[in-house]
Amino acid sequence: MRGGLYRSRLKAALEEEAARFHTSIYEDLRILEEDVDGTEAHDIMLYEAGVIPLEALRGILKALEEVKEEWREGRVEVGPEYEDIHEYVESRVIEKIGLEMGGRMHTGRSRNDQVMVDVRMRVRDELLEVAEALLGLLEAMLRRAEGEVETVMMLYTHGQHAQVGTLGHYLLSYVDTLLRDLQRLLECYGRVNLNPLGAGPIGGTSIPIDRGRTTELLGFDGVAENSIDATSSRDWAIEVAAVSAILMSSLSRMASDLILWSMGEYGYIELADEYSTSSSIMPQKKNPSTLELVRGRTSEVYSALTELLAMVKGVPTGYYQDLQGTKPPLWRCLEVVKGSMRIVEGAISTMTVKADRMREIAEGSYTYAVDLAEALVVEAGLPFREAYRVVAHIVKALGGRRLRELTPEQLMEASREVLGRAIEVRPDLIEEVTDPYRSLERRISQGSPRPGEVRRMIAERWRTLKEMRREAEGLRRMVEEAEGRLREAVERYLRAEE
Ligand code: ARG
Repeated sequence: MRGGLYRSRLKAALEEEAARFHTSIYEDLRILEEDVDGTEAHDIMLYEAGVIPLEALRGILKALEEVKEEWREGRVEVGPEYEDIHEYVESRVIEKIGLEMGGRMHTGRSRNDQVMVDVRMRVRDELLEVAEALLGLLEAMLRRAEGEVETVMMLYTHGQHAQVGTLGHYLLSYVDTLLRDLQRLLECYGRVNLNPLGAGPIGGTSIPIDRGRTTELLGFDGVAENSIDATSSRDWAIEVAAVSAILMSSLSRMASDLILWSMGEYGYIELADEYSTSSSIMPQKKNPSTLELVRGRTSEVYSALTELLAMVKGVPTGYYQDLQGTKPPLWRCLEVVKGSMRIVEGAISTMTVKADRMREIAEGSYTYAVDLAEALVVEAGLPFREAYRVVAHIVKALGGRRLRELTPEQLMEASREVLGRAIEVRPDLIEEVTDPYRSLERRISQGSPRPGEVRRMIAERWRTLKEMRREAEGLRRMVEEAEGRLREAVERYLRAEE
């Protein structure tokens, strides 16, 4: 029997083009195994609750295991004659063991709670994969930051030289951003991993089911309790896309910096060949195009978010077919996120840093003007605005010469002109504030690029990262333990005698 399982009330089959338009079977292949697992747990619970006989359970489990086997061996053939994976799986079971036993499989369940079980299980798995990839990226970035704590680098605002910093401090800034992304992801996980099974079509069921038992067998952290909410709400899926979109915004901004820094005009970094492409005509080209795609494909994740938001906004409460559109944007968005993280991790761990070039730019800049003005506040007791005016006057007067060429006498002269009084500073102050290393040592504020401060932050972030790794591993373990419980129960019932 191919298709038509749910059409007893109707006289005709779905028109051919309508069937193609309607089916979700292709995007559903991604949840075939979840559909089988969810059904096995449901039917084990039905038997334990005295709803179906052992013989039926055994037949159903055996048939379901075969369906899974066929899938893994690439022997599943589907087409638009099936509305979705749920129809396919139930049809195959009935084909294999007949209606008397197979016809009991879907007791006390609706596709409306079933599809949510499948998608939540698939998504929780993907979220754990994303968390693991993110942890890997964060560790790679921390390791890289450790090696670049003293790599002097220009910091920009408005694309203009702002202050001197270090590459290590820069990388660490994205560690902090991505740590928040990881926190958001793990929090979102808690709202995804809830069991909708048992909600029925919308209003529950009169069959004496046990929602606690399927929750336990499927490794959910709890039940999605209210049967209307469990079948109608997609906010958790929107949240997955939102968390993904925010994460991609972080990756994309970082990619943008690295692309810019690969430009000849900057020459701060060079991506490894493994993460670069060339041109069909310009033999000299080396393009950071993998990172360009991380930035470009961020828009796919944003559109997944808006697609989901737009999909739900007008749908009244209760399942409507519109909600079938939950799956494709989710699949797409999670694919891009996982892929992007691997690219960024690879690109960052293998890129060459041109520290000499970075220092050259930093040394030739006027950014020490801030440091000098602050030194006049700290060491000569000037109000900041006066110090600012004196230094601005000096920068104007230097006419292109470097700030470090300034002499204490010229400083005195400038202060006399601007403030009407001569400011005296110790002879080596100018040299000190215009030397990148010594100037960084003067940045004593919390969170600054001072190498000692960056080392302190790195050590702290390692501790946070270890805790978060433990948390993610704990979640993974709970899912795996549940899989073990389900496997064990399936095996036990397959062997059981009446
Ligand atoms: N194919 C549907 C989906 O993906 C499954 C649920 C269908 N429920 C229904 N009553 N038609 O959302």
